[in-house]
This record gives sequence, C-alpha cells and structure tokens, in this order.
Amino acid sequence: MVILQAHDLVKTYQNGSTKIRALDKISFAVQEGDLTVILGKSGSGKSTLLDTIGGIEKPDSGEVMINGHSLYRQKEAERARLRNQAVGYIFQAFNLIDEFTVLENIRLPQDIRGRAYDMELEEKIFSVLEIKPRLNFYPGQLSGGERQRVAIARALLMRPQIVLADEPTGNLDSYNSRQFMEFVKKANAELRQAFVIVTHDLEWLEIAAKVYYMKDGRLEEYDENKSSFI
Ligand SMILES: Nc1ncnc2c1ncn2[C@@H]1O[C@H](COP(=O)(O)OP(=O)(O)O)[C@@H](O)[C@H]1O
Ligand SMILES: [Mg+2]
Repeated sequence: MVILQAHDLVKTYQNGSTKIRALDKISFAVQEGDLTVILGKSGSGKSTLLDTIGGIEKPDSGEVMINGHSLYRQKEAERARLRNQAVGYIFQAFNLIDEFTVLENIRLPQDIRGRAYDMELEEKIFSVLEIKPRLNFYPGQLSGGERQRVAIARALLMRPQIVLADEPTGNLDSYNSRQFMEFVKKANAELRQAFVIVTHDLEWLEIAAKVYYMKDGRLEEYDENKSSFI
C-alpha cells in the first residue's frame, strides 16, 4: 500500500541574483515496509526533498499525498495532524537533551503529546536496537552510535508510518555507521518500519531495497554505472 506519493515537486531558491532549482519536478512513492535510500552529492537537493515530503517546506508547485490526502492543501492544523501521524524524523545532530536520561529522552515526544507508553513496543524496539543496558545513562555517557540508536528509538516509538532520516550516519565513524545501518535493516525487517534515508554515503547501497540518485534537483533510479559522484 502506498503511504506517501510525491508528484512533480518543484522548489526554487533565490540566492542573490541566481535562482536554484533545489527540486526539479520530483515524483516518487513510498510504500509500506519500504527501505528507500536517496543518494546524492552535497547541494543536490536531498534535504529540501526530505523537508518537503515531511511537511516542513512547502513546494512552489506539485503535491505530496499522504494516505490519499493532499498535504499542502490542508489548513495548518490538519497538515500537522497528517504529518504527525505519517512521518517521524531523525536528524544528523541527534537532538538529545543532556539533562534527561536515555529513557526520558526516548519518551519525551510521547509525553509532549500526552500519549500513554506502549510497554510491549518499547520492549521490542529496545531489544532490536540493543539499548536496554543504556536506558538510565545520560546522553553524555554514550558513544555517537549509541546516541543515534536512541534517536531512532525515540522516532520509532511514535509509530510513524515512515521514518525520514537526513544523513543519519553523517556524524558517525565507519564502525558505528555500519552498525547503525544494520539496526535500520533490522527495524525494517522485524518491525516493518518504512524508512527514507537521504545520504551521500554509498555504504547504504548494501542495505537499501530501493535506491534513487539525486542530481541538480532531479531524481532518477540509481545506476552504479551512470550515477556519478564525481
Ligand atoms: N533556505 C535556503 N535558501 C536558499 N537556498 C537554499 C536553501 N536551502 C537549500 N538551498 C539551496 O538548494 C540546493 C539544495 O540544497 P539541499 O537540499 O540542502 O541539498 P543537500 O541536502 O543535497 O546538500 C543548494 O544549492 C542549496 O544551496
Ligand atoms: Mg542536506
């Protein structure tokens, strides 16, 4: 089943006298259970695309459909509702609060929305991500890889249909980013969590089920012979 469909997204930015087409007619779909990776060099429009499908950045034209509803033709409150139900974000900077324990950080979004904790799901996610022994630690006591796993647990517990991640391994060393990819793969397989990951890191090719390549605001199927990083 299709969760999210982007149609002909266009977004331009005016930088001084130059106009930049950050998104140049982008269409693609995210289905239940997808593990989609969008590769592309810096400046190719990856973050703009993620922010647009995530309901943060309004496109100049085109449409994002979430569960059959147009995201940008709603009033702000309705758009926020659609967005909250459908997408969760993982940022490159993990955005953990230093004064809170790991568990408090993980539960914070649920506290803010006044949601009851789902102990069964917590148990599952903590075990898939192997963070149980760290729940009472503070972020400052964790490695970069562990912090990123906490950020993903926090996103997963909100039960979004799709988790969007912008360069989630950008701040990790190669060992930790390798491990993080394995956890994403596991969460995808065992929890049927859909992901859209944007990155310039080719290592993601190994775990991705669907790969796109972004260049100058355009999206194409990734072809290792044609999609050039040079
Ligand atoms: N808020 C903004 N104002 C002006 N230009 C922007 C803004 N955001 C992005 N851009 C430009 O749009 C292009 C795509 O940026 P971005 O989506 O951040 O690419 P990526 O995430 O692939 O590095 C770049 O040329 C960037 O300079
Ligand atoms: Mg970016």
